[in-house]
Amino acid sequence: MSKNHDLQTRANDVYMQLYPHKDVVIDRGEGSYLYDMNGKQYLDCAGGIAVCALGHNHPAFNKGITDQIAKGFTMAIGSIATEPKVKAAELLVSNCCSEKIFFCNSGAEAVEGSLKLARVWAHKNKAEDAKEFIVFHNSFHGRTYGAVSATEKSLSQPEFGPYLPGFHFADYNDLESVKALITDKICAIMVEPVQGEGGLTAGTPEFFKGLEKLCKDNNILLISDEIQAGMGRMGKLFAHAHFDYEPHIIALAKGLGGGFPVGAFMAKKHVSDSFEVGMHGSTYAGNPLATSVVLNVVGEIVKPEFLARVREASAYFITKLNALHNETGSVITAVKGEGLMIGVDTKYDVKGILTQLKENGLFATQAGKNTLRLTPPLNIRNDEIDEAVEKISLVLKDTDKLKPI
Ligand SMILES: Cc1ncc(COP(=O)(O)O)c(C=O)c1O
Repeated sequence: MSKNHDLQTRANDVYMQLYPHKDVVIDRGEGSYLYDMNGKQYLDCAGGIAVCALGHNHPAFNKGITDQIAKGFTMAIGSIATEPKVKAAELLVSNCCSEKIFFCNSGAEAVEGSLKLARVWAHKNKAEDAKEFIVFHNSFHGRTYGAVSATEKSLSQPEFGPYLPGFHFADYNDLESVKALITDKICAIMVEPVQGEGGLTAGTPEFFKGLEKLCKDNNILLISDEIQAGMGRMGKLFAHAHFDYEPHIIALAKGLGGGFPVGAFMAKKHVSDSFEVGMHGSTYAGNPLATSVVLNVVGEIVKPEFLARVREASAYFITKLNALHNETGSVITAVKGEGLMIGVDTKYDVKGILTQLKENGLFATQAGKNTLRLTPPLNIRNDEIDEAVEKISLVLKDTDKLKPI
């Protein structure tokens, strides 16, 4: 029996059945590659779904952990300042239009904090009943109750209801549909710069400029959920900077820790001033081990040559996929996305494509109903991109193994 099979069987026995099983057990990683228990190599274009910004076993990520462990403490209560927490906060704030930050542990928690801050701000600065939000169809903001109430999927999962009231869904990239939902009760609009789970749809510059203006004209906050698109994935540290808009609140996670579970939300000072001591918190907020990793990971990403390379890699990847699109005719129906958050639509069921890619040594994920999602490490090399496109090409040309949709 293979080592993969043994562990997978044991996992099935003890784990809640919430994910479809991949029949592969990862043992170790190096750069853009993962290796299973039998030593088989996989090019990791899933990257933990846009998490592993520096790939696997990167010295900067590892240094973040070993530096802090060498100091002999990995925990301090939130009210105590530590060097990594302060330095990581300074690094992010000094590269952003927001002056304030609060660290937390995940994306959903960053979204919860953002929603709470928007409500407190509105309570004090707008009207006590201005507690509602405009969000978007095909959105994804997380799985805690506030975040999931802002997520389109909540509309099709009545089992978990009742959800939080006061979330109104507009159409992405459609300013008129946003305008139609504006009332005096709206405190914030929350938007993803690129809809990730929704199928790799990027917002247009006009859409973001329009949202900025609508917020200004109606005394509404703009929340940018950059959990998937941020931290260098667009070729700039922050996704809103790539799309050239200025949010009041920014939610971060995923690439922020490059594989260490950490999140954060940032805000303009005049907005975060609405928070009072004791209003929000978390046991692990600003945990020294987590922030030491953030300091080292973001320290790498923010280097101009690193970000320039992300832009180059994105252009190279998209050009190659477009060439494959031309070559394969109607098999690929669209190449979508922005930066290193790339989607490929095909006329075959994406689940089958993912299985075949895995067999061929490539990890990717599904987004939306049928989009193949590629979110590789940000430092992926051109020869690795060639390898990824070659594997995708092989799978898409071997159509006998695929199920048409
Ligand atoms: C845009 C966006 N927001 C929020 C989340 C939730 O993050 P987490 O899974 O860390 O709670 C995700 C996760 O995929 C995301 O892509």
